[in-house]
Amino acid sequence: MRPLKIRGLSGVRAVKGKLTLPGDKSIAHRAIILGALSRGRTVVRNIPANKDCLATLDIFRKLGIKSARDPKNNSVSIEGKGLFGLKKPESPLFIEESGTTYRLLLGVLSGQKFPARLCAGRSLSRRPMLRVIAPLRQMSARVCGCAGRGAKEEYPPVSIKEASLNPITYRIPVASAQVKSALLLAGLYANGVTRLTEPVRTRDHTERMLGFFKAQIKVKGNNISLKGAKPLVSPGEVFIPGDISSAAFFIVLASILPGSRVVIEKVSLNPSRLGLISVLKRMGADIQLSAVSSRLSAEPMGNITVKSGVLKGTVVKKEEIPSLIDELPVLMVAAAFARGKTVFNGVEELRVKETDRITSMLAGLKAMGADCRVNGVGLSEKIVITGKERLNGARVKSFSDHRTAMSMAIAGLAADGWTEIDDINCVNKSFPGFTAVLKSLVNG
Ligand code: S3P
Repeated sequence: MRPLKIRGLSGVRAVKGKLTLPGDKSIAHRAIILGALSRGRTVVRNIPANKDCLATLDIFRKLGIKSARDPKNNSVSIEGKGLFGLKKPESPLFIEESGTTYRLLLGVLSGQKFPARLCAGRSLSRRPMLRVIAPLRQMSARVCGCAGRGAKEEYPPVSIKEASLNPITYRIPVASAQVKSALLLAGLYANGVTRLTEPVRTRDHTERMLGFFKAQIKVKGNNISLKGAKPLVSPGEVFIPGDISSAAFFIVLASILPGSRVVIEKVSLNPSRLGLISVLKRMGADIQLSAVSSRLSAEPMGNITVKSGVLKGTVVKKEEIPSLIDELPVLMVAAAFARGKTVFNGVEELRVKETDRITSMLAGLKAMGADCRVNGVGLSEKIVITGKERLNGARVKSFSDHRTAMSMAIAGLAADGWTEIDDINCVNKSFPGFTAVLKSLVNG
């Protein structure tokens, strides 16, 4: 455990600067996976060196895929072996804490001609897998997780036996990009067309990356169809734009500290990830986007300029949640400093992230004197935050969750006095350079 002490700027000092951020974690996972499943070399540029993406690289190494990292240039080159080029792992695969790696791999490994067992770290072992396993079974996958206590659910470790998959037509009950992506990756191994419908559109990085690797994929509204049993073709190089979920912390900080101006360059501007920006703009934030084009990117990207603004409360609708799911913790911080009340609807998925992020964020914000509560239960659960002009520094916990830790650091900087976060090491999961970037902005 490594604590972080932060002296609040409490509205008297601004943050200023220009940043470029490590590549988007979600997009990088997809680039590595499709690089491994296509034939020949794929060079992935601006790859983030966070624990989760390194876990994906490591797993593919154990599945016989060679890769070489060039940390100086933030790139990795992957020697793909085609859809059926993976080798049987010698021992159970330990995925550590990367939920995206775990769920997407369930899809990839379901269609292989060898068995595998996927183990996970403590927190990931408590996260639900039946949402992926159940539809995979409909595709004839032979997948079996561990029973948990209470509700009918399955958890890691999951065992997979060799199988021949069939395509399905499936309406996904939960808005989850990980579920959709696992099924699309399994669909690559099914002879025929896999058809999926999402309840609400979620991040579409898998669809875009599959298109970039020449898969036969079509997207129409909430419907996606993919023709399986066709080889992928590597584009040779993929550039990963900066991570909007990492940018989110600095966007909120610059919005709430008077006099601030921050420019973040070459960030992913995928519309399915821009919920934080549209909600903040509705709250009165001053945020400008300008597109930058790159033929090496499978995704739209651009620069974000944020100037401080006077934020007012808003209502975040259930349908908006998938587009800002990972940004909810830091958006709660923005709400705690806004004028009036902010209501967050449809937040139940926050309970099954790396930690229960409703509990972790409310504990930290309350310790700092924020007015926040939960109304309702289950699917009608809402978070209600009434903003205050000032919060007080406090001792808070990260609950070993990277996004809780970074969000509390932003709250601490905007508060009065000192804040101490019990453990900041957990930020390495997505953003190892977080504290260094924060320091550069504060001193910049
Ligand atoms: C992700 C999807 C989201 C998100 C996670 C990354 C992805 O999870 O919270 O951090 O890369 O597909 P869900 O699919 O569980 O909503």
